[in-house]
Amino acid sequence: MSDTMRQWLLTGHPRGRPIADNDLKLVEAPIPSPGDGEVLLKVTHLGFDPAQKGWMENVADYVAPMQIGDVMRGSGIGEVVQTNHPDYGVGDVLVGMTGWNEYTALNPETMERPVDGLSPTTMLGPLGTTGMTAYCGLFKLGKPVAGETVVVSGAAGATGSIVGQLAKIAGCKTIGIAGGPEKCAWLTEEVGYDAAIDYKEGSVRTQLKEAAPKGVDVIFDNVGGAILNDMLGQIATGARVVICGGISRYETGSLPAGPQNYFNLVFRRASMHGFIVLDWASEFPIIRKRLAEFVKDGRLAYREDIQSGFENAPATLQRLFSGQNKGKQLLAL
Ligand SMILES: NC(=O)c1ccc[n+]([C@@H]2O[C@H](COP(=O)([O-])OP(=O)(O)OC[C@H]3O[C@@H](n4cnc5c(N)ncnc54)[C@H](OP(=O)(O)O)[C@@H]3O)[C@@H](O)[C@H]2O)c1
Repeated sequence: MSDTMRQWLLTGHPRGRPIADNDLKLVEAPIPSPGDGEVLLKVTHLGFDPAQKGWMENVADYVAPMQIGDVMRGSGIGEVVQTNHPDYGVGDVLVGMTGWNEYTALNPETMERPVDGLSPTTMLGPLGTTGMTAYCGLFKLGKPVAGETVVVSGAAGATGSIVGQLAKIAGCKTIGIAGGPEKCAWLTEEVGYDAAIDYKEGSVRTQLKEAAPKGVDVIFDNVGGAILNDMLGQIATGARVVICGGISRYETGSLPAGPQNYFNLVFRRASMHGFIVLDWASEFPIIRKRLAEFVKDGRLAYREDIQSGFENAPATLQRLFSGQNKGKQLLAL
């Protein structure tokens, strides 16, 4: 084994603009030695989340700030190649915050072990923060009731595709909004959405009116902007609007004016609620067990988009913003 490795460092804060090539730099560094109680992990996969851009910008206040020169923060999967911890052996697979490193030394107690019988990559998708976000946002804030109508933006993404399936399990009618015919066909033919709306083709407002003539009871919004406004225009009385993300604004400098249809919240006696999934971290183990059952019994399908090559990490992150990702965006090292 060589004694050097590669890592990606933050070199710019992409505020109010897309990520540029010179915001991240690939460097060589010595492979770290694990300290007392630590293990050395050889990273095999990285997981990607739109939130990483916010971390790079250093504007999100729910996580520690990222400074220029820091190793790019991110989740990953690794295999233990050296151990100084009695409960973790060489060959153990661990999932958690590895950063964009080829090797990392860390306290293994900060990491998760994969669920028996399922691919470790599920721990970055349906059984990781992605699945927790879908579950907590939908059930704790959306509170869907059987027979109600749930509309999800970013529906073909990692989070949105799980929200639709959980709402279906809860007995709801589900409508997904996504970009392009391929993603929309996947939503209705494989994910089980009752209807799909292609926001790149025609008016979302008109298509949503057709799909939910009596209005929608739960909005799970991953996108914001004009799509949120169109969904707000079609809420039913007592609707719950869950603001999970706003990816349509993550790359822009000047923010759009507020949603014109917000006053429908008054007419429809509705509520609108944002959340940070980490606030429910203490419940993740029990929620993970539940979601793992759904994956094992085939009720929860998931799609992974696995790119390859550590040098392609920045380009892989960009796929989330161009909509190229089909399901959970991963990178195999
Ligand atoms: N609140 C929380 O605690 C929390 C935690 C995790 C994630 N999130 C949020 O959840 C959302 C989904 O994250 P994810 O990891 O599951 O990513 P994802 O949905 O798998 O990927 C992002 C998707 O966003 C869509 N998109 C990109 N730019 C867009 C635009 N300008 N307008 C409309 N759609 C656009 C693309 O799909 P199309 O091809 O359909 O456009 C793309 O595939 C993000 O907003 C993220 O920030 C929130």
